[in-house]
Amino acid sequence: MVDKIHSYKKYKEDYIESVENPEKFWGDIAEGFSWRKKWNTVFKHDKENAEVKWFEGGKLNITENCLDRHLEKNGNKTAIIWEPNNPDEESRYITYRQLYVKVSRFANVLKNNGIKKGDRVCLYMPMIPELTIAMLACARIGAVHSIVFAGFSSSALSSRINDSECKLLITANEVYRGTKPINLKAVCDEALEDSPSVEKVIVYRRTVEPTEMKEGRDVFWFDELQKIENFECDAEEMDAEDMLFILYTSGSTGKPKGMVHTTGGYMVGSTYTFQNVFQYEEDDVYWCTADIGWITGHSYIIYGPLAAGATTVMFEGVPSYPDYGRFWEIVEKLKVTHFYTAPTAIRALAKHPISLVEKYDLSSLKVLGSVGEPINEDAWHWYNDNIGKGTCPIVDTWWQTETGAIMISAMAGITPLRPTFATMPLPGVQPALMDENGKEILDSPAEGRLAMKAPWPSVARTIYGDHQRYKDTYFSAYEGMYFTGDGAYRDAMGNYRITGRVDDVVIVSGHNLGTAPIENAIDEHLDVVECAVVGFPHDVKGNALYAYVTKIDESVTSEDDLRKEINDLIRGSIGAIAKLDKIQFVSGLPKTRSGKIMRRILRKIASNDTSNLGDTSTLLNPEVVTEIMDNVIL
Ligand code: WTA
Repeated sequence: MVDKIHSYKKYKEDYIESVENPEKFWGDIAEGFSWRKKWNTVFKHDKENAEVKWFEGGKLNITENCLDRHLEKNGNKTAIIWEPNNPDEESRYITYRQLYVKVSRFANVLKNNGIKKGDRVCLYMPMIPELTIAMLACARIGAVHSIVFAGFSSSALSSRINDSECKLLITANEVYRGTKPINLKAVCDEALEDSPSVEKVIVYRRTVEPTEMKEGRDVFWFDELQKIENFECDAEEMDAEDMLFILYTSGSTGKPKGMVHTTGGYMVGSTYTFQNVFQYEEDDVYWCTADIGWITGHSYIIYGPLAAGATTVMFEGVPSYPDYGRFWEIVEKLKVTHFYTAPTAIRALAKHPISLVEKYDLSSLKVLGSVGEPINEDAWHWYNDNIGKGTCPIVDTWWQTETGAIMISAMAGITPLRPTFATMPLPGVQPALMDENGKEILDSPAEGRLAMKAPWPSVARTIYGDHQRYKDTYFSAYEGMYFTGDGAYRDAMGNYRITGRVDDVVIVSGHNLGTAPIENAIDEHLDVVECAVVGFPHDVKGNALYAYVTKIDESVTSEDDLRKEINDLIRGSIGAIAKLDKIQFVSGLPKTRSGKIMRRILRKIASNDTSNLGDTSTLLNPEVVTEIMDNVIL
């Protein structure tokens, strides 16, 4: 491993080097990993086709970096501490050597079930160590994992499986989140009715509940393990640019985008940023509360921390069970040094009595992190004062599923903080603020749309099966640049504050939701003519969803029933995370003369910000704006 950046001065030097001489900069960092064969070129960029290759010709396996290379010195170090949903159940401590054996053995299970390099494997699993084991086992043999967050509905799962034609599905029978049992296997059974590519299902038995198994298709994890006598599995030699995983993220239109991450660049990016942003030291206990079904879990529970040889905590439960002190109970119990969570969780926790924090000894904490959405002033101070006791730097890390790794963030204790600002770009990251005319804004302070001027190692290489959509979504707004979809403000010192999405993606409780698929679900209701979904500010969730719905004249369903049926449709097609907070029935939606729904106006009305609606007279139907404002649900 290369040394971490240890001073602000060094950060500035490295930053300059990373811009002026990226080959040398990233080449030196990549030297710190274990490669079977060194790369030929550090990076190649074909702007025209939006194609970038990092460490081309290099051969490696990421699991040799996450596991094998730690065995000699750190084989007995704890790799994973698993904390169950139910505090009365035992925690599990898994050393690097144990993890190595478990991964190797399960990799042989995958092989036994016909999985080969390049095959796609879908994981729909709870937050248990077996999820990590399955994930790394895929990587070990070169299979591509596609993890689907286990809160998604069967139809969302099915469409993700179909998009990348997964051959195998790995799941668990059931899981408890808080007091609520969730039958994951039943969701899978339903999904598989529409997903013919899946030949086999491996089921981990998390609870003793009886599980229905389909003869010839479903097998139990434990039974499959028993068939394996070989606890070693040679890692498949991967090219740096071979696919490592696919992870779906919401787009502003239509179906989710299967972001493709490849092996070498992703490994270098996730590990380098983990080490530098969090400044992890040898005996630290690092805890990221995200679910592995999201990119934060991929990069900062698993790949980054394990490649860096860290001890990483995995928590199965929810912050509210058995009460809102659970996070702090775990911090005290495991002596957590690094705690990384989302603003929505902080806001939810801040609503509960401070005694739930004060009950616990949080003195082990050294660094706090925030991710997923802009952190507001109140939440920042609550986190800083009550959890960090004013002594822990808060790293506000801005990045995306697409970027693979943190892009803009302070480095804990190294670079200066500014509350509610993600602050400075990490080395290798070249942000630009763009104005309405597509020109770069060079002055500061300024506000604009956030783009990136140069590629970085962990950028997603494409959208699975749809490179054109990748080009259109990310590389068409500004020539030769990557467009993030976010707006940002830059202060005179060059600190960035992300102001939020500028497209039709709404971040609800830290989850990205495209409004288009939600609208599609609502439109399925036979009584609905048309609808528009927008986000509005919410004090805990960050944003919540507001729908404007027109119904058919003959509809006899009561509005309350209709609201319930609409939310049921959404739960069925996307999942409970996309539930609408407010549904307003309207006689029409404001449209331009070309028939485009004016979401900007609808967004303002839902946000109770109607002082500046702009000129509505050019609308096709200006009268509906008044009607909508008169009946708005606030
Ligand atoms: C938002 C999560 C402000 C942003 C890693 C981005 C943030 C989207 C921050 C990506 C932050 C993430 N401050 N906004 N620190 N981190 N975002 O793909 O709008 O789930 O575009 O990746 O979350 O969400 P995603």
